[in-house]
Amino acid sequence: MKVTDTEFLLIRDYIEEQCGICLNKEKAYLLENRLAHLIESYKCKDFSEFYYIVKSGHHRDLKDKLIDAMTTNETLWFRDTHPYTILKEKILPSFAQAVKEGKKDKIKIWSAASSTGQEPYSIAITVRDFCMGQNVIKQDMVQIIATDISDSCLEKAKAGRYDSVAMSRGVTPEQLNRFFVKDSAGFYTISQEIKNMVKFQKYNLQDNPIVLEPHFDLVFMRYVAIYFSDKFKKDLYSKLARVLSPKGFLVIGAVETVRGVSEDFDLLSHGGGLYYQCKR
Ligand SMILES: C[S@@+](CC[C@H](N)C(=O)[O-])C[C@H]1O[C@@H](n2cnc3c(N)ncnc32)[C@H](O)[C@@H]1O
Repeated sequence: MKVTDTEFLLIRDYIEEQCGICLNKEKAYLLENRLAHLIESYKCKDFSEFYYIVKSGHHRDLKDKLIDAMTTNETLWFRDTHPYTILKEKILPSFAQAVKEGKKDKIKIWSAASSTGQEPYSIAITVRDFCMGQNVIKQDMVQIIATDISDSCLEKAKAGRYDSVAMSRGVTPEQLNRFFVKDSAGFYTISQEIKNMVKFQKYNLQDNPIVLEPHFDLVFMRYVAIYFSDKFKKDLYSKLARVLSPKGFLVIGAVETVRGVSEDFDLLSHGGGLYYQCKR
């Protein structure tokens, strides 16, 4: 089914209002493709009818299904490698130093758009291996909160069960052996130890992050701000600066930057990768 210009504008504005995702006119095809199954299952004759049904609120979960359908959930294990090297070689050692000096007794990490779980579980594996190699930070001192707006992603992430295609993207054979169990259907489930390190929660980045936790020591917010308007990005980074502990760290996607969007962070580099630290 084709979307008219007016329908596109109505639905586009509604999506942006609800979750910040911006679609330009060239993305009309995306709307047609991704909403086709909802249009069909709610027996709508066109996109106008679909829009009015969503707006009416009569189907309580339709808004969530619409947002779920419009999110892009691309992710992989240890995405871009650098963030995990930085975590292991710079960020965790700096937390260990703070613990040693009595300035910290807990470490709180937020994976702010966790998709199907590969990012927070990659963080958990990195933390776990770091904890095994020293005796300052104990594994139970580290809390990892992973959030996403997509119900279907959160469900998959909580299950921690992946097909062989997902497993072929970023996991070494050695990690596969140590942290996953293969079942008779050919799926791989992450070990209970790693699963227990991550708490998943539904959260819209438009909301106030204080509801999650007043202070995070590290935020991974990767490959999600690219879908937002400059205005939303500005608000988001300023909220992040407020929710981070003093001198807390921020890791964003390799193609992303806070330059021109926020003055709250210093840019740092290590081993060819970039990360940020809160100025205050
Ligand atoms: C491309 S994935 C990135 C996943 C992961 N951070 C990575 O880099 O591999 C983007 C994720 O952002 C989520 N997302 C989009 N808009 C959101 C919002 N307003 N609040 C929370 N999550 C959102 C999507 O559901 C999707 O899972």
